[in-house]
Amino acid sequence: GSTLQDAAKGSGRYFGTAIAASRLNDSTYSTIANREFNMITAENEMKMDATEPNQNQFNFSQGDRILNWAQQNGKQVRGHALAWYSQQPGWMQNMSGTQLRNAMLNHVTGVATHYKGKIYAWDVVNEAFADGSSGGRRDSNLERTGSDWIEAAFRAARAADPGAKLCYNDYNTDDWTHAKTQGVYRMVSDFKSRGVPIDCVGLQSHFNPQSPVPANYQTTIERFAALGVDVQITELDIEGSGQQQAENFRKVTQACLNVARCTGITVWGVRDTDSWRASGTPLLFDGSGNKKAAYTAVLDTL
Ligand code: XIL
Repeated sequence: GSTLQDAAKGSGRYFGTAIAASRLNDSTYSTIANREFNMITAENEMKMDATEPNQNQFNFSQGDRILNWAQQNGKQVRGHALAWYSQQPGWMQNMSGTQLRNAMLNHVTGVATHYKGKIYAWDVVNEAFADGSSGGRRDSNLERTGSDWIEAAFRAARAADPGAKLCYNDYNTDDWTHAKTQGVYRMVSDFKSRGVPIDCVGLQSHFNPQSPVPANYQTTIERFAALGVDVQITELDIEGSGQQQAENFRKVTQACLNVARCTGITVWGVRDTDSWRASGTPLLFDGSGNKKAAYTAVLDTL
C-alpha cells in the first residue's frame, strides 16, 4: 500500500492516530489524518473530565465531533478512556469510598452507553499500575475504593456495550522483565482465569532515550497474546530523529507484525508539532506535514 492504513490492511491490521478535535479545521492536519489512518483515538475528548464535567451531567460534544469525523471518513474508533486516576473532573477528584466507586461505575456505564455499537475497543482502565519495582497498583482515589475496582469497571463496560473490545492500557509495560509489566500480566492472567471480561491489552509505548524500545518488546507482545487477549500499540511515539528514530519505529512495527494477535498500531498524534511532548520530534510527520524517515521505515515494514 502507499499509505499506512492500506499497508496495515494488507495483514489485517489497522494503523491509527490520536486526533484533537480542535485541530480538525487545520486542513494540512485533517488531510494527512484522513489519508494515512483508519483508526482514531480522541486525544482528550472522551476522557472523564471532558465527558462528565459535572456529576451525572454528561457532555459528549467534543467526543462526538471526533466520532462523527471518523465515521464520515470510514474509520474505526478506539475509546479512551473510561476510568483513570488522571484527568478526572474536579468533583470526582474530591470523592472517596462507596460514593466514588458508584460515581466511577455510573461514568463507565454512561459513556459506554452513549457510544454503544460505535467503538472498536475501549481503554476501560488506564494506567492503574505503579512505576518502580513493586509490580503493584498505583495509589489513587480509585484504588482506595478497593482493588477490585478494575474488574468492576470492566464488567460495567461489558454490560453497557457488549460489542466493544475491552482493553487495559498502560505505559512502561513494554519491557518483559519490568516489574510493572509483570504486574499487569498477572492481572490479565487472573481476569482470564476468573472470567472477568477483558479482550485486549494496550501498550502505550511512549519511548525516549531514558525509556527506549526494549530488545524483548516482541516477547512482551507474545506473552500477553498467549493469555488469549489481543495486543494493541495504543500511543506510540519515539523521541529522536533521522535513521536512528526510523530504526526504532521499524522495530516496533516489526514486533507487532510478528505476533498474530497484535491487531494494530496507533501513533499519538499526526505531526511533531501536534505531539503532547513539549519538545522533541517523536512522530511520523514533521511540523510542515512532510513524511519523515520514520514514516518510510514504518510503511516499508508494514
Ligand atoms: C495526553 C494528551 O496527549 C495531552 O494533550 C493531555 O494534556 C494529557 O494527556 N497517556 C495517556 C494519554 O493515556 O491519555 C495521555 O494523553 C498521554 C499519556
